[in-house]
Amino acid sequence: MTDPQAGLGPSPSAGRFPLEGRRALVVGGSGGIGRAVCRALAARGAAVVVHGGSSRARLDETLAELRGLGTAAAAEGLLLPLRRPSDLLGRLEGLGRIDILVCAFGPFVRKRLVDTSAAEWETLALLDLALPGALCSALLPAMASRGWGRMLLFGGTRTDAIRSYASNAAYAAAKTGLAVLAKSLAAEGAGSGVGCLLVCPGLVETEYLGEAERSKLQEKAPRGRLLTPEEIAETAVGLLAAEPCVASGAVLNLDGGLAL
Ligand SMILES: NC(=O)c1ccc[n+]([C@@H]2O[C@H](COP(=O)([O-])OP(=O)(O)OC[C@H]3O[C@@H](n4cnc5c(N)ncnc54)[C@H](OP(=O)(O)O)[C@@H]3O)[C@@H](O)[C@H]2O)c1
Repeated sequence: MTDPQAGLGPSPSAGRFPLEGRRALVVGGSGGIGRAVCRALAARGAAVVVHGGSSRARLDETLAELRGLGTAAAAEGLLLPLRRPSDLLGRLEGLGRIDILVCAFGPFVRKRLVDTSAAEWETLALLDLALPGALCSALLPAMASRGWGRMLLFGGTRTDAIRSYASNAAYAAAKTGLAVLAKSLAAEGAGSGVGCLLVCPGLVETEYLGEAERSKLQEKAPRGRLLTPEEIAETAVGLLAAEPCVASGAVLNLDGGLAL
């Protein structure tokens, strides 16, 4: 009988802690959906490096929450505002072994095409597309050489296909491009145990929403209810933790049937 764990790197225990022995980096993990992803990873036994942008308090709260889960995995923090991929790529080596990469941070600009500046195009292309792309390229070889790795990317709401957008074309263009990254990674990583998933969340309730925006989104949401970060994270991380990663290459709308 063949050993199903053969060639999978450090010995994970199946069952309750399927990610035990794995180490994750969650970019944008200190708030919103990223924070729920950190909890879902830690609850499955992974050690987590939580990246945050500018709020030390939010990052510390997230780390305390993870340490309080009692799953005995380590939680470390990295506070680093990002303007371009090289800001983080230069720090990767110092972060040590990364088995799971999650790119949650995804800046949004609500503007019509005619009002979108060159600087905004540049920022969104760099942070919503080039940053996840460059991180995946940098981390794939080591994951592949160890025979195990996972990447979780976040698209925008309904950016699973080529569509037109009235008020956020620059953001959606970058997010739609992530599907090429996810499918290419899945194909390139398939032979060496590296899986990649692209999740396109629906309308999600986070601490970053202002009152006006929240009620506008609630009007559009199925039954007037926004999704919770936990609902997105649990589904995404559950698929990511599966062995083998049967969902690798999937572009998944987690939006509860949203019709915009
Ligand atoms: N929320 C939704 O309804 C929704 C819908 C569809 C898709 N998405 C996608 O899902 C992902 C998560 O979205 P989200 O709304 O939960 O949060 P988000 O605003 O994309 O990310 C929040 C995280 O990014 C960090 N961050 C913010 N600005 C930063 C900067 N300049 N440099 C480095 N880090 C920075 C935050 O840290 P600080 O708190 O310290 O700033 C926090 O850790 C994104 O990719 C988004 O595009 C979200």
